[in-house]
Amino acid sequence: MDQRKKDLLFIGISITIITFLHYFTISTKWDIHEFYRRLYYIPIILSAFKFRLKGGIITPMIIGIIYAPHLFIYFGKIDIAILNQFLEIIMFIIVGVITGFLVESDFNKKKLLELQIKRVTNLENYTRNILDSITNVVIATDNDFNIQSINQEGSKLFGVSVNNINKKLSSIFIEYQRIEELITNVMENKTYPESIETSCRTSNDKVIDVKLLIYPLRNIVNKTEGIVIVLEDITELRKLENQVRRAEKLSAVGELASGVAHEIRNPMGIIKTISQTIHKEMKDQEMKEGIEIIIHEIDRANKVIKELLDFAKPSIQQVKLYSIDKLIKEILLITTKFAQQYHVDIKYTSIEDVKILLDSEKLKQGFINIVFNAIQAMPDGGHVNINFRVKEKWAEIIFKDNGTGIPQDKLEKVFEPFYTTKKQGTGLGLAITHRIIEEHKGYMEIESQLGKGTKIIINLPIR
Ligand SMILES: Nc1ncnc2c1ncn2[C@@H]1O[C@H](COP(=O)(O)OP(=O)(O)OP(=O)(O)O)[C@@H](O)[C@H]1O
Ligand SMILES: [Mg+2]
Repeated sequence: MDQRKKDLLFIGISITIITFLHYFTISTKWDIHEFYRRLYYIPIILSAFKFRLKGGIITPMIIGIIYAPHLFIYFGKIDIAILNQFLEIIMFIIVGVITGFLVESDFNKKKLLELQIKRVTNLENYTRNILDSITNVVIATDNDFNIQSINQEGSKLFGVSVNNINKKLSSIFIEYQRIEELITNVMENKTYPESIETSCRTSNDKVIDVKLLIYPLRNIVNKTEGIVIVLEDITELRKLENQVRRAEKLSAVGELASGVAHEIRNPMGIIKTISQTIHKEMKDQEMKEGIEIIIHEIDRANKVIKELLDFAKPSIQQVKLYSIDKLIKEILLITTKFAQQYHVDIKYTSIEDVKILLDSEKLKQGFINIVFNAIQAMPDGGHVNINFRVKEKWAEIIFKDNGTGIPQDKLEKVFEPFYTTKKQGTGLGLAITHRIIEEHKGYMEIESQLGKGTKIIINLPIR
């Protein structure tokens, strides 16, 4: 039984009992009757509380209807005492109506308040949903640059809980001083700077490139209460731009190099053939040795020319479906001997495999260049870790060493042809690898810390 029915039953029963007592108590006991009559106020007030104005009107009326006849039955005549009792029935109605009315108006007020709370909550949820649907970070701060509100994207990126923020703006920007200057300008001069580019530190200690828009946060009376920052993560975009720039540069250099190499190759061939003929005819031992040196140097130059041509035209030829796992294992076979000489151990882990369209010979050459570099970067021994995993539509292969590392300002240079820090190097290894990866429609990234090691990440598309 629900509460409404229970209330109704209680009120009905109490009225019945009181009326019953009235009808079965002799009329001479008028003082007891008086007590019973006052008992009627209990169901009347209760009814007004429970059923508001409706209850406050109906209940005293019902009581009046069932109570009045007993006045005639018992007392029979009209005198001032009887009249008094009739007037009390009117009193029942007045008390019922007033109580009912008060309860009703209180109820309406509560209802209105509830409605308003609901409307505000809906509006808040709606605004929250809008902010959370944006893939940019939106941050609002107070005048002291304490973060007051952040959307879901921001809370994910900076590890701030949406409900318990407690973080200063300064904790997320790397060059905060410059940003604070700009923010203060926006707040004071009411100028909107063009979008600013800077970098942030995320919750997992990663540095990301971001683009910012800063606006003053104004309240209803147009007073500035803080700032709103819209922040876009442009790290991937920057990487892509770098990749394209690098590829363009390499291809221009490649064209030039191939032209020069081609022109040199023929005279070199002629010099070598003539030198070999002279070497055969020559009797003088000393002169013979000199010619041998010439031939040796020509061979060395030819090697460089061949590599240059490889770099200029890596054009992949034999493309077929090939397992990445198999490819890496073949590289291990080739490089292990070389690694052992340098006391370097190579560890390869993979949990999955995928076959993709590739030129296995070219790609092997590209990967070997990376492994050789890693080994050469650890003259006193160390570890090379090769990891392979499938990442959505990409096969990601990571080569990590704990060698000398590369200074940050040289990171982009390593892909340039002829950039080398080695006595015996030609500086073509990574340039060639880059071209090969590019020909496979993949891309290459490099991360390095001086003294700690280098990480080369290759991504090849799975089709
Ligand atoms: N894993 C690495 N650790 C440290 N430095 C590296 C690493 N890989 C590349 N480098 C730097 O990048 C430069 C260019 O590398 P790249 O492979 O293109 O040429 P190289 O190794 O010098 O010569 P080669 O043509 O014989 O490969 C290297 O000389 C080295 O300074
Ligand atoms: Mg190399």
